[in-house]
Amino acid sequence: MPIKKICCIGAGYVGGPTSTVIALKCPDIQVWVTDLNAERIRMWNSKDLPIFEPGLGDIVNACRGRNLFFSTEVEKHVADADLIFISVNTPTKAYGVGKGKAPDMTSIESAARMIGRVAMGKKIVVEKSTVPVKAAESIKRILQAAENKNAQFEVLSNPEFLAEGSAVQNLFHPDRVLIGADQTTDGCCAARLLAEIYEAWVPASVILTVNTWSSELAKLYANAMLAQRISSVNAASELCEVTGADVSEVAKAVGMDSRIGSKFLEASIGFGGSCFQKDILSLVYLYEHYGLQNGAEYWRQIIVMNEYQRSRFCRIIVSAMFNTVARKQITIFGFAFKQNTGDTRESSSITVGRYLLEEGARVNIYDPEVLEHVIISDLTTDSTLQETDQGLGMNSLEVKLRDRVTVCHNAYKAAAGSHAIVICTEWDLFKALDYEEIYTSMQKPAFIFDGKMLLNHAALKAIGFEVHCIGKRI
Ligand code: NAD
Ligand code: UGA
Repeated sequence: MPIKKICCIGAGYVGGPTSTVIALKCPDIQVWVTDLNAERIRMWNSKDLPIFEPGLGDIVNACRGRNLFFSTEVEKHVADADLIFISVNTPTKAYGVGKGKAPDMTSIESAARMIGRVAMGKKIVVEKSTVPVKAAESIKRILQAAENKNAQFEVLSNPEFLAEGSAVQNLFHPDRVLIGADQTTDGCCAARLLAEIYEAWVPASVILTVNTWSSELAKLYANAMLAQRISSVNAASELCEVTGADVSEVAKAVGMDSRIGSKFLEASIGFGGSCFQKDILSLVYLYEHYGLQNGAEYWRQIIVMNEYQRSRFCRIIVSAMFNTVARKQITIFGFAFKQNTGDTRESSSITVGRYLLEEGARVNIYDPEVLEHVIISDLTTDSTLQETDQGLGMNSLEVKLRDRVTVCHNAYKAAAGSHAIVICTEWDLFKALDYEEIYTSMQKPAFIFDGKMLLNHAALKAIGFEVHCIGKRI
């Protein structure tokens, strides 16, 4: 029987856009997106969606109330859905066994326990969240342990590969849709029903059905290998700076080899986002769990290089500014972890901002999408920053930091009076600014540190800026 009702548990960056696109492409299916977070659901039901994602608002408007609904009544919609996506967060564990490495499976487990308890009839339970290999086994055991005689379950893996900022396009035209299933008649039948949903708009040739463990592992490996490319090109950037090579030219030449490909070779101040680091750590933990230390060490280095790149960039800033930024005003352009999102999770801007604060600077931030309270919280809450002995004279460390952070709503106002501009996010709009006007309004010498290789450095130099960037001597 075809799927008539879907319930997605978790209305986040994955659950929201994925469910919305399914609702658009499959008007005969009712799609309920559910979450325990009432504020998030309230926003999905309002005109101010809880996430900024280009193109998403129009689709939500077209489908909401027709066959797309957002609700906090998770249990009610799980109970009578034919197919349930588990799309909850799986962050790195911050406590106990596996702290700092293993993914925290608390939300997955509590969703599975709830499904086991309330489900009625035949259910296909789909892991959409990124999970370690064998997570489907744990979900199955939890569902069976519920001894719910009214329900029958089939568990599938269907990891999501969308990237924030291009989620809608990625969902419309996925490189592949991956479905992992038990190699049994029931498993294959469930996989077919899920594939039929995607076939409404995705060519069957890119829908790949594999065994469950391959599917779970392929998701972790895809992210690890994308991050590995960035760390590889970032490792090249330091060598370029000392030898006189230009990392963009090196990346272009390397990427023109069709076996390597040109994407994901942009040097930067390091990758951010909620997943690359988390998923590599999860992979490292998996290797260690099976006693495979060499593989663990190999992948750990991708993160080591990322952290090194971030701190190296911070040191470049301080060193260029006569070895001190104390009491200087530095403007950070961009706080999101990449352009076209308001998400700041693991953003390199946080590392840079905190470093500059620790060095005693006053920091102005301008980002077109990130909310002020998010910036303040990222820079000052749970901070491990040590007080610098700059006689800045406030009692509480947090209050003191807050006092030195200004969130601005205009790039020109943010830059005015500053000693330096630091580009931390590749927002296109930073390219279109009038840098002559900005230069005039700044302290001299006026520095620009381009952490994203975004701007025209020759033009900036001609205006009078002292320009520094990653991967190229200027
Ligand atoms: P998110 O934090 O934005 O959203 C998760 C949502 O789940 C939250 O709103 C939370 O309130 C809700 N939730 C948690 N436990 C719940 C429960 N028991 N019942 C109901 N709701 C519950 O997370 P996200 O960025 O959407 O990521 C979700 C998963 O998808 C993660 O495993 C992540 O690794 C993976 N993923 C994320 C992306 C991305 O671009 N963000 C891309 C691919 C895969
Ligand atoms: C990434 C993957 O691209 C998605 O396929 C995956 O589904 C997702 O993680 C996930 O599992 O969460 P995302 O983190 O949203 O998507 O964004 P990316 O475009 O991958 O960018 C990640 C970071 O790498 C950003 O900070 C970006 O600026 C940086 N980056 C990207 C570089 O520094 N250089 C590049 O060449 C590309």
